Amino acid sequence: MKAVVVYESLWGNTAAVARAVAQGLGPDVPALPPDEAVGEALAGVDLIVAGSPVLAFSLPTDRIREGIRKDPGPKAPRPADLSHPSLRSWLDALPAGSGRYAAFETRVRYSPRGATSAIAEKLEKAGYRRLTGDERFVVKGKYGPLRDGEIDRAREWGAQLAGDFAQAQG
Ligand SMILES: Cc1cc2nc3c(=O)[nH]c(=O)nc-3n(C[C@H](O)[C@H](O)[C@H](O)COP(=O)(O)O)c2cc1C
Repeated sequence: MKAVVVYESLWGNTAAVARAVAQGLGPDVPALPPDEAVGEALAGVDLIVAGSPVLAFSLPTDRIREGIRKDPGPKAPRPADLSHPSLRSWLDALPAGSGRYAAFETRVRYSPRGATSAIAEKLEKAGYRRLTGDERFVVKGKYGPLRDGEIDRAREWGAQLAGDFAQAQG
């Protein structure tokens, strides 16, 4: 199975979850920001696991990212990392494929809407088929950190995805 975890992360929480999911999936599975998940990294991929933070109730848009660049908010622990393109733009440019996908988001405990439905919709539009239900990983405050135990849960989810994939292949 060739799997890749692709993530957007402005303050590092989603990146940490993505790395743990990749570890759980297997020893050679990379966790990549959108600009690195291109070309060879994607060639013949069997499973894409894509994740992003929920920002303003949604998969981050360029408008939200631009607003954060101008004003990250008075309590931001540091400037946002906007050095990589958004997951949204990566998904919109994703070449057609035939593998499976799984989607996750990081977020505060309660949010009326999230990011994974948009991620799923875009992956399906590109031809990928759902492997399993969406997953959420929760942060304690607006900028993090992750709730205790979320990294372990992410690793376990990654291992579960590998098992689900093997089973789906029959
Ligand atoms: C400007 C801003 C808007 C946010 N909006 C939401 C939201 O609508 N719903 C939610 O559940 N979490 C929201 N959050 C919390 C983030 O989703 C959470 O901190 C996430 O883990 C950040 O991921 P990152 O560190 O990978 O960038 C928001 C955080 C910020 C800074």
